[in-house]
Amino acid sequence: MNNTKISIIFYSATGVNYQMASWAAQAAEAAGAEVRLRRVHELAPDKAIDSNPAWRATADAIKSIPEASADDLDWADAILFSVPTRFGNMAAQMKQFIDLQGPLWAQGKLVNKVVSGMTSAQNPHGGQEMTLQSLYTPMMHWGAVIVPPGYTDDSLYPAGGNPYGTSATQQDDGGVLPEVRPAVEHQTRRLLEIADWLKSGRQNA
Ligand SMILES: Cc1cc2nc3c(=O)[nH]c(=O)nc-3n(C[C@H](O)[C@H](O)[C@H](O)COP(=O)(O)O)c2cc1C
Repeated sequence: MNNTKISIIFYSATGVNYQMASWAAQAAEAAGAEVRLRRVHELAPDKAIDSNPAWRATADAIKSIPEASADDLDWADAILFSVPTRFGNMAAQMKQFIDLQGPLWAQGKLVNKVVSGMTSAQNPHGGQEMTLQSLYTPMMHWGAVIVPPGYTDDSLYPAGGNPYGTSATQQDDGGVLPEVRPAVEHQTRRLLEIADWLKSGRQNA
């Protein structure tokens, strides 16, 4: 791996996307990449977080993870986003993080970033593909290179077979099926591989 740098940017209220982002970070480290795992800034008031024990527990568990910044996007060759579905769309916390990147965009610093997305929802048909499409739309404005998993590996099928990006259906116990992990790992490695190709190609151009 050509010192490929990856930022893994997630939002998670009840832990699923934190789990997926953590699996991705481990896979990226195992592949030899330089890794930044970052959470986006929480916008919800404490009152809302405290009303849900799983949300409180996740907020406490991730508080030592640095908050995502523009520098994490600028620094990275590859960026993997993980965000839950909210009414068929990405969670507002991630949207706000993206909306704060206007200055980086205006300097052209998001052009050719190699990006991919993951999500989760309560229901298999609760908007998983829609959420990933909503996530990818701003990245088209960036001029980023979107790398979906497609059907490039058998690990996709037990994970639900979403070619837009790995997506998890939250289980009754609040967790995520272990079958999702190999799909996350494949998506991460594929993203890194394509970022590596692009980086090597540019260096040789
Ligand atoms: C306000 C709100 C809206 C939601 N909208 C949807 C939805 O449209 N479809 C769905 O299947 N799940 C929906 N969910 C469930 C979340 O997507 C699910 O709990 C989430 O994927 C868990 O991710 P996390 O543990 O990383 O926070 C919603 C949850 C909340 C709080």
